[in-house]
Amino acid sequence: MTSHKKNLLVTGGAGFIGSNFINYIHKKYPNYKIQLLDALTYAGNLENISNNLKSNGHFQFSHGNVTQPDIVNQLVSDSDIVIHFAAESHVTRSIYDNSLFFETDVIGTQVLANAIVNHPVERFIHISSSEVYGTAINTPMSEDHPLNPMSPYAAAKAGADRLVYSYVHTYGLPAVIVRPFNNYGPFQHLEKAIPNFITSALNDQKLTVHGGGKSLRDWMFVEDTCEALDLIMHADSKKVVGEAINLGTGIDTDILTIAQKVLGLVDRSQNLIEHVKDRPGQVSRHISSTEKARRLLGWTAKINLDDGLQRTVEFYKNNKQWWEKFLWMKELWGQK
Ligand SMILES: NC(=O)c1ccc[n+]([C@@H]2O[C@H](COP(=O)([O-])OP(=O)(O)OC[C@H]3O[C@@H](n4cnc5c(N)ncnc54)[C@H](O)[C@@H]3O)[C@@H](O)[C@H]2O)c1
Repeated sequence: MTSHKKNLLVTGGAGFIGSNFINYIHKKYPNYKIQLLDALTYAGNLENISNNLKSNGHFQFSHGNVTQPDIVNQLVSDSDIVIHFAAESHVTRSIYDNSLFFETDVIGTQVLANAIVNHPVERFIHISSSEVYGTAINTPMSEDHPLNPMSPYAAAKAGADRLVYSYVHTYGLPAVIVRPFNNYGPFQHLEKAIPNFITSALNDQKLTVHGGGKSLRDWMFVEDTCEALDLIMHADSKKVVGEAINLGTGIDTDILTIAQKVLGLVDRSQNLIEHVKDRPGQVSRHISSTEKARRLLGWTAKINLDDGLQRTVEFYKNNKQWWEKFLWMKELWGQK
């Protein structure tokens, strides 16, 4: 695999998946230059980026918004590869106020894609989402599954996903559209299910499970996603450009089982589980086909759910100072 020096532009890299990706790439390719563009919303936190990277000359942080053409054009013109994570990413928030979702997720992607038309790069990796599919009509869900987004978040992601596809065909954008299934791991915001469960359990508080906990998701440890993105970054253009690629494990597990496993790992009583009524806009089942990623990249997820959950629990146990300051936000969203 090539390790020639590359200039990467990572948008939204102060968030959960983006920061794990930046830390992964820095460890594997210490000579790559990483430019981070992030608006540092409630979800962005520069503490997620390794101190080792922040203190060397290979990292540059630009505090800015992906919807602003000036800064985006300037950064793209200095990049070889763009990896676009920046988004409003929480389904529940999108139900209560969605305008920012369409601004960031759709217009932000349009601004970035336009900048790449004007300042061509080797590769543009657009992080879409499995949420674009809606509930599984046929299983496992392949990349040809119909797009039936069921929440405003999912609709915004579907809009951006198809916008990028249209730019491949209209302007020859060298883009790859990646559709990760539910990621979990270190540095995930407490508003998301697994960190929410872990931190509640550690604090001996109730784990709130919606709608009987029967919704099925394909849970993937974030390090597996980073490995797949690395392969996509370096893959032969003929194989990947213009493609949409699912990143999932091919195994689905319901939310109630996740809550029970977390309580087991944190050594707390199963009585902490509290059932509440379901939220609108939820999909009932997601399970990824793994065939295309295997065929194009030779990649399959390696970290099984029990090992990934164990590693995630260890992170939250050992990094209380990282998450305790966000507890008030979790309480706010817990009321919705
Ligand atoms: N977490 C998952 O399970 C999952 C699954 C599928 C797809 N995705 C997608 O992966 C990407 C990353 O998800 P995440 O969970 O790491 O999200 P996150 O919410 O943890 O991080 C989002 C990051 O984007 C930044 N950001 C938000 N608006 C911005 C703007 N206008 N300009 C610049 N930066 C902005 C935030 O400050 C934050 O650092 C998103 O595109 C999301 O839709 C996530």
